[in-house]
Amino acid sequence: PGLQRRVDAHLREYQSHKAKFMNGSQNSLFSKTSSNGSNAADESLFELPELPPQSQVALEKVLSRRSLQLQNEQQAWQDSSEGWRMIQLRLSLPAYKERDAILNAISHNQVVIISGETGCGKTTQIPQFILESEIDALRGATCSIICTQPRRISAMSVSERIATERGEKLGETVGYKVRLEGIKGRDTRLLFCTTGILLRRLLVDRNLKGVTHVIVDEIHERGMNEDFLLIVLKELLPRRPDLRLVLMSATLDADLFSSYFGGVPLVQIPGFTHPVRTYFLEDVLEKTGYRLTAENQIDDYGQDRAWKSNKQFIKKRKSQIASAVEEALGSADFKNYSQQTRESMFCWNPDCMGFNFIEFLLCKICENEKPGSVLVFMTGWDDISALKDKLQAHYLLGDTGRVLLLACHGSMASSEQRLIFEKPEGGVRKIVLATNLAETSITIDDVVYVIDCGKAKETSYDALNNTPCLLPSWISKVSAKQRRGRAGRVQPGECYHLYPRCVYDAFADYQLPEILRTPLQSLCLQIKSLKLGSISEFLSKALQSPELLAVQNAIEYLKTIGALDESENLTVLGRYLTMLPMEPKLGKMLILGAILNCLNPILTVAAGLSVRDPFLAPLDKKDLAEAAKAQYSRDYSDHLALVRAYEGWKVAEYELTGYEYCWKNFLSAQSMKAIDSLRKEFQSLLLETGLIDNNIATYNTWSYDENLIRAVICYGLYPGICSVVHNEKSFSLKTMEDGKVHLHSNSVNARDSKIPYPWLVFNEKIKVNSIFLRDSTAVSDSVLLLFGGTILKGDIVSSFPPYVYALYESIRCDNFYPFSYAWAGLGCILRGM
Ligand code: CDP
Ligand code: MG
Repeated sequence: PGLQRRVDAHLREYQSHKAKFMNGSQNSLFSKTSSNGSNAADESLFELPELPPQSQVALEKVLSRRSLQLQNEQQAWQDSSEGWRMIQLRLSLPAYKERDAILNAISHNQVVIISGETGCGKTTQIPQFILESEIDALRGATCSIICTQPRRISAMSVSERIATERGEKLGETVGYKVRLEGIKGRDTRLLFCTTGILLRRLLVDRNLKGVTHVIVDEIHERGMNEDFLLIVLKELLPRRPDLRLVLMSATLDADLFSSYFGGVPLVQIPGFTHPVRTYFLEDVLEKTGYRLTAENQIDDYGQDRAWKSNKQFIKKRKSQIASAVEEALGSADFKNYSQQTRESMFCWNPDCMGFNFIEFLLCKICENEKPGSVLVFMTGWDDISALKDKLQAHYLLGDTGRVLLLACHGSMASSEQRLIFEKPEGGVRKIVLATNLAETSITIDDVVYVIDCGKAKETSYDALNNTPCLLPSWISKVSAKQRRGRAGRVQPGECYHLYPRCVYDAFADYQLPEILRTPLQSLCLQIKSLKLGSISEFLSKALQSPELLAVQNAIEYLKTIGALDESENLTVLGRYLTMLPMEPKLGKMLILGAILNCLNPILTVAAGLSVRDPFLAPLDKKDLAEAAKAQYSRDYSDHLALVRAYEGWKVAEYELTGYEYCWKNFLSAQSMKAIDSLRKEFQSLLLETGLIDNNIATYNTWSYDENLIRAVICYGLYPGICSVVHNEKSFSLKTMEDGKVHLHSNSVNARDSKIPYPWLVFNEKIKVNSIFLRDSTAVSDSVLLLFGGTILKGDIVSSFPPYVYALYESIRCDNFYPFSYAWAGLGCILRGM
């Protein structure tokens, strides 16, 4: 009778899917996307067996036969010698000892929280326990388990690992789905996906029909998507009493989650790690044989904490240590750097001390320490690739016969991924450069040495100034502990923190949850697209709710850019923006660039806004750098200067002289490469929305029209706008909110006393004493009128020819209809403007 019920349910689901698909194809928004085969209906994660649905009995037979088959297959694998070996491996993980307790808790409770040390087998084992118990109960063909991961790479590597443990190929019972990629088959019953993918599925299937278990992994990270998903799932639970929810977490913050779900049970997996010897920077210096001199000698740590975390003190201590390192390495080069660069030894930038020091330390480990892999925690991907390039040129670290140098990042190929987990042969030492993703998401077993540079890139947001930023910042004590723990997986290990103990003492205990420290614009769009009602009401149900002011700012912004209408409903533009997982301003730019057929430069601009500024400005060569930038700037736009620089680099790269080009023109090769790969990513995302097709030529017809590009940039950056007021010799700048502002000295517009346009649009304001605008582009009244917002009224509007005004009106009424004649007409007019 149980089976019968499931079969019925599936049959109903099949029919409703079909109906949905048929409806979907009449929906103009989604039908556009069906041209490249990834429409909304495709988002359904589990396809039902392709059976003629006439006969329930037939379906039932097939499903039960398949369930039996699955049971037999699993039995056969476990009886094979390879399968037996795998079982032994799995049995040795701490999670296995709790198998019965976990399954028991899940069968008696709708929500269960499981916590355990990183590496104890939560991610790889618990979803398997559930799958196996379903197969044992002959529900193998009807269960469907979704396990979410915060990162693409863990979804991919874990699913592959589990398939191997089960003696299958990926895409049989185990599969994965991440954005733009995935392997799953008709038989896939356990699916790993990113949190974003599950949220997208909820978009088309609010009740998660057919899904029997949802596992949310790494909840302790408190990512925005995870916190958001938890609210949605909490609301879903009463509607789906048969759905099981399992939350998995690494640290013991689990009580918070338990009470959030009304006191649900908690299973703890006891863990075990080997002792890890810890060195802070001063100890590292001492260990590596360089004693601090008497005047650098760092005094005892017995002082009280308040004094130690005093900013002045840290600053002094930092410079003490910087000079100690300087002396230690006897680096003549280092002395040539400016004071600022010396202090930035803590930001691990390729041009400063931090990189040399890591290289030096790695060298010491390779030469003097016993075997074992090294894991280096770096700040971000650009640092990793820069350091990798540097190390590859080193006589020892670059010697592939002795060192296996790997970088761990989200989009690496699976062959590369496997290398990370494998133990190298023949005395080769493995060095893995990673970001904080190696903190808890992936476990590399043979790591014995950890180098921790103490920073991670995190978005922070200041609700008062309404300014977001993605900056390297110090990690928390919990993160530092996690990083340290990675060294003690298989044997006692060592951890080198590359910052003084006093800096560590000043770390926050925990990191603030993302939802409290990032702008909420994208989240608000998602809430709206999932039809979850009032934004502020919904967010008040979060584990920790963001400030009201931050929520209001986000809503206000979305209204200003036309993504929400006055009553907070999603506009057509808003709906498109929800399909592009990036800041709304970038999304807007890309959408319009695609519509007005000038996507090529816009891809560069949008990518450029997301990476570290590629125009380098070393303090000692400022004039040369400025002159280099000036050759790209003809039209009062930093963004267009970037487009030119990128295009020059692209040609040089093609001729294999990319590095020389960057060197000569004071450009960062890392940033250029990052822009290049982001461009590709943006392009595939646009393909997915159906706004462009594979025929590149069609959406680039007007890519050389500078006026048009200016307009699209304006469309994206609005309401970041300031007016230019000319006086005798120069000009002054004003924004509505701040009054007088200044241009950052690196901007091409800062050097020209006559900007022939009345407005500048900008991406970012920085507050240092007074307010500075970073990159800007000058635009005309007409562009601002048509592509900005409603800031221009009265006089200016009436000074336009009537047909421009008519177009303006028609776009406003239309709100946003991508392929409307109004937009096309506008493009034509602009090119003549
Ligand atoms: O999720 P948790 O941190 O508790 O551990 P896990 O990711 O399930 O890893 C359990 C074990 O499987 C670790 O010892 C990993 O080294 C191993 N593993 C592996 O060998 N290859 C993978 N792709 C993933 C995990
Ligand atoms: Mg895990």
